[in-house]
Amino acid sequence: MLELLKEQPADNIIALMGQFANDNRETKVDLGVGVYKNQSGVTPIMGAVKKAQALLLESQVSKSYVGLLGNLDFVQSMKNLILSDSLRSENFVGAQAPGGTGSLHQMFLLLRAANPNITVWISSPTWPNHPSMLRHLGIEFRYYRYFSEETGSIDFDGMMSDLAEAKCNDVILLHGCCHNPTGANLSVGEWDSISQLCLKNEIIPLVDLAYQGFGDGLEEDVLGLRRMAGLVPELIIAASCSKNFGLYRDRVGVALYLNENKKVLSLTSDNLKSVNRLTYSFPPDWGATVVSTILNDSGLRADWNEEVQDIRSSITHLRLGLRDALKRATNSDRFAFLGEHKGMFSRLGLTKGQVDLLRKDHAIYMVGDSRINIAGLNEKSVNVLANAVAKIL
Ligand SMILES: Cc1ncc(COP(=O)(O)O)c(C=O)c1O
Repeated sequence: MLELLKEQPADNIIALMGQFANDNRETKVDLGVGVYKNQSGVTPIMGAVKKAQALLLESQVSKSYVGLLGNLDFVQSMKNLILSDSLRSENFVGAQAPGGTGSLHQMFLLLRAANPNITVWISSPTWPNHPSMLRHLGIEFRYYRYFSEETGSIDFDGMMSDLAEAKCNDVILLHGCCHNPTGANLSVGEWDSISQLCLKNEIIPLVDLAYQGFGDGLEEDVLGLRRMAGLVPELIIAASCSKNFGLYRDRVGVALYLNENKKVLSLTSDNLKSVNRLTYSFPPDWGATVVSTILNDSGLRADWNEEVQDIRSSITHLRLGLRDALKRATNSDRFAFLGEHKGMFSRLGLTKGQVDLLRKDHAIYMVGDSRINIAGLNEKSVNVLANAVAKIL
């Protein structure tokens, strides 16, 4: 009977990974998938993670079920990492989930159950899985302007004018920091303006936080979000530990909901338990327990902080190196915007044809919209990329 299934469109990034794997050219450069790689091209296991895993191997005495919301120490520790003691952040409920994707998915399910007529507003452009998941779940979505190709920065006036059309109880999906795919971040003042709009028009912000620590710092990257937590009556956060703990395949994330109304919090928590039971029952424990072990041990936490700082410095170094190499190779300031962006991603502003040429003629792989993963570069390939771009312009 399964022959009745319909063909599914391939995920562009996953398809690109396959093409890269099949390319035999030795000089190939992978700037596609959003995974941090060190200078040797390896996605390393963090030292703090290795130590926490060793501790757990010794101390864990059971593999019995934990609970439908997962490891609650992990949930609390993640709430503290993200929101610290920000105003009103004590009034929350949450659940551990399989990665940032799992957290988003479970919160989408709750939003759809609460209001089947909801519209979720997503940035143009955004991480392609946002519209795909919403479509899959039958949730209506609309785009708001976010990035201007002309200026290489945020079109904040366009964004606010689009969001002014959002109805009461609609949801705005924001990237907490290091916007994927553009790398263009909102300023704290812009976060405040969006919070005021949410307050005025009764719109619920949902913040997807997948790169805390990869932009300006673990605290700095969530300044806007923390202020928002103090201003709006309701806030949803879907955070991922894939990148900043390097736990990609272990699937670790957290879904948080803030509200001062105790009754609504309890209802939300019960509904989170229920949607978890109906999708995967219990979220996977190992990675989440590794994270809570790190966050609750001062030595491991200090190690982890340092490792995140090293990753951030290496990305920033490559980002600025690429900006300078492109300036030299093209003899122009066309790519100066790269220096303003944050995190692993930026879009080079190339056409689909130019992206294809880079792949065919230079074995350089990037997503069709010219998004590059800066962490896929190294000291040598920065110049290889810059010279190739100069040739195909
Ligand atoms: C913006 C954004 N949100 C969420 C995720 C989800 O990450 P994961 O499900 O691997 O934790 C990603 C991963 O690439 C992302 O870029």
